[in-house]
Amino acid sequence: MTVEQNDLTIRPISGREELDLFSRQPYALNEELADDLAAGRRRPQWMWVALHGDRLLARAAWWCRTGDDTPFLLDIFDIDDSSADRGHVDIGVRLLQTAMAQVAPVGARPPEYIRIVTPDWREVGAAKRLVEDRMAALERTGARLLVERLRLEWRPGTPIPEPSGRLAFRPVRDTEEILSLMTLVLDGTLDAHSRDDLTRMSAREAAVRHYEDELAHYRSPRDWWRIATLPDGEPVGFVTPARNDYNPIIGYLAVLPAHRGNGYIDDILAEGTRILSSQDVPRIRAATDLGNTPMANAFQRVGYVNFERTINMTWN
Ligand SMILES: CC(C)(COP(=O)(O)OP(=O)(O)OC[C@H]1O[C@@H](n2cnc3c(N)ncnc32)[C@H](O)[C@@H]1OP(=O)(O)O)[C@@H](O)C(=O)NCCC(=O)NCCS
Repeated sequence: MTVEQNDLTIRPISGREELDLFSRQPYALNEELADDLAAGRRRPQWMWVALHGDRLLARAAWWCRTGDDTPFLLDIFDIDDSSADRGHVDIGVRLLQTAMAQVAPVGARPPEYIRIVTPDWREVGAAKRLVEDRMAALERTGARLLVERLRLEWRPGTPIPEPSGRLAFRPVRDTEEILSLMTLVLDGTLDAHSRDDLTRMSAREAAVRHYEDELAHYRSPRDWWRIATLPDGEPVGFVTPARNDYNPIIGYLAVLPAHRGNGYIDDILAEGTRILSSQDVPRIRAATDLGNTPMANAFQRVGYVNFERTINMTWN
């Protein structure tokens, strides 16, 4: 579908032969586009451009998990920042409205928007304007900021704290065991996505959704997952070290409400890190909300570096 408005052409790209055109706007994910297209995580019909002649004025693209058929994230949205007037934001809005009408399933909540930003984006004028212009365009289509998140990385050679000996670790028995623990840890969570889920569904439903959206898609064996217990066997928390389509990751980790405030998260995170590091991985990636201070502090204590942030926006 192509829409022509006042010399502006809004359309999806024709295929991989137009990746050069699509990549004219710089962004961290450009280098993954060819592989993602080949693997079916992107589709030409989910990669939209707004053109004036052959000039790229805006672009948007959705991504899905391997094997899925519906877009899961809107993870690329750019507008031409060289333009001096506010017209470039209007063009971004028109592109989003046209593309979303075609790409997002009718009646369903549109896929979440995620943008990678630098940790200091609020302090650097040009970066601030770039991010705020995109957020302004998204807000005009009904999106709202849900949360700002920290992207974290552990690098080989970083020492991992030795086990304190307070906890024992064992594999997860079955799906029901991890699902019931995931349900319990939602009580008092500081995580914005979990809290948002809890406004729409029960804790059990939120745990099942989280499991199906994330844990069920890992490409790594489940026997990497660990339940942390007290010496008498009582569960304290868990961690799901894994590999996604791009990196070794810490996945999900938590401490049960009754055991919070004892620093157990350091032991659990260190154990998950040890499981991955013993496989000579080039890096370990993780993420947590800027506002999830106990979790962010634990990542820092265990040696993770905050190298980027993300802005996450959702539609109601
Ligand atoms: C985040 C979490 C793992 C922290 O575990 P923990 O072992 O309690 O962490 P710590 O013992 O280091 O806690 C440090 C401080 O934060 C407080 N704290 C921990 N979790 C808290 C919570 N959910 N809400 C409010 N305060 C919390 C602790 O009481 C402690 O306070 P103190 O310094 O005054 O004693 C745990 O809260 C949790 O499981 N949350 C839900 C799941 C989650 O967010 N996982 C991370 C996803 S990326």
